[in-house]
Amino acid sequence: MLGGWLKRVFSGNSGNSAVSERPEGVATGPALPSAPTAPDGYSDAPTPISSSDQTQIEQAMQSNSAGWWTPREEGVLTPGSATQGLRAIDADLYGELGKVLDEPDIELPQLPDVAQNVLRLLEKRDVNFVEAAKAAERDPVLTAEILRVVNSAAFRALQRVQRLQQAFPRLGVRRVRAIVVSATMKSIVIRPGSGSQTVGTQLWRCASASAAICSETAQRVGVPEDDAYLAGLLHDIGMMVLLRVLHDYQTKTGKKLTRPIFAAVAERWHEHLGLRLAEAWHLPDPLPDLVASHHKLPAPGDPLEKQKLIVMFSDVVCSMLEYSPYVPYDFFNLPCVQRLGFRESPETLEWLESLPTTIARRLL
Ligand SMILES: [Fe+2]
Ligand SMILES: [Fe+2]
Repeated sequence: MLGGWLKRVFSGNSGNSAVSERPEGVATGPALPSAPTAPDGYSDAPTPISSSDQTQIEQAMQSNSAGWWTPREEGVLTPGSATQGLRAIDADLYGELGKVLDEPDIELPQLPDVAQNVLRLLEKRDVNFVEAAKAAERDPVLTAEILRVVNSAAFRALQRVQRLQQAFPRLGVRRVRAIVVSATMKSIVIRPGSGSQTVGTQLWRCASASAAICSETAQRVGVPEDDAYLAGLLHDIGMMVLLRVLHDYQTKTGKKLTRPIFAAVAERWHEHLGLRLAEAWHLPDPLPDLVASHHKLPAPGDPLEKQKLIVMFSDVVCSMLEYSPYVPYDFFNLPCVQRLGFRESPETLEWLESLPTTIARRLL
């Protein structure tokens, strides 16, 4: 699916010519981008659904009156592989890129100092939220982003929060960590002022939708919601590394990297690179494991079985709702759907029907 996603992003989603021909949206340094517009979302009202999200929901509903989970064409159990159909010359380049990506000293996106410090403080046994909040407040952009997210529907704040020192103890360690990492990730994949069709923006939107799906699904299958949220948000974190490395390679060598090459490289490398980044950023367990192997069905009894199935399920939902390229999955026959216990019952169908709106409301 990821291969298809990249293919569409690089080939111009919805025919939009604003799509970049090369990886974009990767910051070149560890610092957060210069101040964005004033923090929005400072409202007690639920986050409104943007008009583009509304359109997407309506299109998804209209294009399939039988329900978005019903495949529009013959249902499949696995998406096609992005490496199929690579021409011989591309295969050579693919091999060359593989060597670059396998370098032990590959440059990984850095966690900004402030975020690093906050995450370190949150790792302590007796977390001092005042100290952690003060550390975060050293970066006004990070602070604004945390407050925006805290006050958004994604984190379902009961009351408007204006200061991190109020917010942190209310949210708890796991949520604060999730917000700090997500704010950092967003700053890395999206350059200020970049359009809605850049690879980074698309990547962020997919990650954000996946986080909401994982969280909503976790509630139904008895998995901690916050952990699932973070897994959904970060499982494709390797894409950030990939975007940077391929961008640098293209700049350095002047070789044009075609869309199928990007897709094939992503399919092969993003889990491995994600693991390297998860380790470099000291992401807490079980994130490194989830990042490293989220496209393989877990063995029954795997301690992370449900979490992995939830992430796979989120990929399916993202695709069928077109947050990533559409794949006509044979939904109710998919192993991840069956193993999560979802059957075609009226109650499940009602939940599935409500998902597009819920996801759109929870997008970061
Ligand atoms: Fe993935
Ligand atoms: Fe994914």
